[in-house]
Amino acid sequence: MSAPKIPRPTVPTIRFEQEGQQVGCIEGANLRKAALDAGINPYKGLNNLNNCGGVGQCGTCVVEVVEGMQNLSPRSDVEQVYLADRPANYRLSCRTSVNGDVTVRTRPQDGVGKGSNSLVGALKSLIGK
Ligand code: FES
Repeated sequence: MSAPKIPRPTVPTIRFEQEGQQVGCIEGANLRKAALDAGINPYKGLNNLNNCGGVGQCGTCVVEVVEGMQNLSPRSDVEQVYLADRPANYRLSCRTSVNGDVTVRTRPQDGVGKGSNSLVGALKSLIGK
C-alpha cells in the first residue's frame, strides 16, 4: 500500500528576467524584499545609496512587469503618483505584493530619472504640465 499523496501547496514564483533567476515566495510577499533576499538589486546607480529603504517615498525601486500583472496587488496611490507618466506595467517593487507567478525586469531603462520619480514631477504629470 502506498502512502496517500499529499498535495503540495503551490507558491508564487518570481522570475527576474535580466538576472535569469527565479525564486519562490510566500503569497503576499513584498516584491522588493523578495528581490533583495535573492541578491537582486532593484536600484540603479546612485539610487543604491539614495533610496527610502522600501517605504514608498523615493520612487526608485521601479520594475517592469513582463508577465503576471494580474497576480500582483493593484497599483497603490503612491505608485499612481510616482509612476504617473510611466507605462501601466511599471511598479514600485516596495509597494507591490506578489500573489502568483510573475516575470519582472528590474531597473528598466526609463524607470527612474525622467521627472515623475519626484513629487513635483509627478504632480506636473498629473495636471498635464
Ligand atoms: S524603495 Fe523607495 S519607493 Fe520603493
